[in-house]
Amino acid sequence: MARDVLIAPSILSADFARLGEEVQKLDQDGADWIHIDVMDGHFVPNLTFGPPVVKAIRGMTKKIFDVHLMITPVDPMLEAFAAAGADRITVHAEAGPHLDRSLQVIRALGKKAGVAINPATPPSAIEWVLDRLDLVLVMTVNPGFGGQAFVEAMLPKISQVRGMLQGRDIALQVDGGIHPETAGRAAQAGAQVLVAGSAVFATPDYGRNIKALRTAATSLSV
Ligand code: DX5
Ligand code: ZN
Repeated sequence: MARDVLIAPSILSADFARLGEEVQKLDQDGADWIHIDVMDGHFVPNLTFGPPVVKAIRGMTKKIFDVHLMITPVDPMLEAFAAAGADRITVHAEAGPHLDRSLQVIRALGKKAGVAINPATPPSAIEWVLDRLDLVLVMTVNPGFGGQAFVEAMLPKISQVRGMLQGRDIALQVDGGIHPETAGRAAQAGAQVLVAGSAVFATPDYGRNIKALRTAATSLSV
């Protein structure tokens, strides 16, 4: 049965000099969530933005702010991102020794809690925290940069995670190398929320690019 797939454009590929306008444009052009990639130059080899930037763009849209934290340590920053306007906060399973605690803190802050797993991390990393999750993010590239190639080996992993989430109200998200062709295959494997940076910002018609991803994924979603 085909299901609706959500599209979460990553502002990592936006024009940072006009970030507020870019977020407004994504809103008007049909983005479901706004995906915000936070990198610390330590957990991943790139540096992006912190809570003040999230706060600055919060007034530009009412859409869900889906904040992907690629930082360690993560716990000391959770409150600041929640206060800045994050609706959902995703932390990496690899980023700290106390994943269960981090997820509890996110929910205690009134936000939806997610966990991301890198390509080399097995699905078993989330097995004992399922009760604390609203979302699982299966990374389909090694985090750090936009524009990388989709890691094909992640397709069976997406299916496996989908099986683990059966019967639970937990969204399955993929991030990295998503364009219309990979979007279809990721959706077929069980992904329900697609993050896309370069595919959305590739041309000025973001609406068309978002629609192409949605069409490709929805027809094949399971
Ligand atoms: C990668 C980020 C992604 C990235 C995706 O570390 O988490 O969200 O922006 O970019 P594309 O879609 O260009 O692979
Ligand atoms: Zn991301």
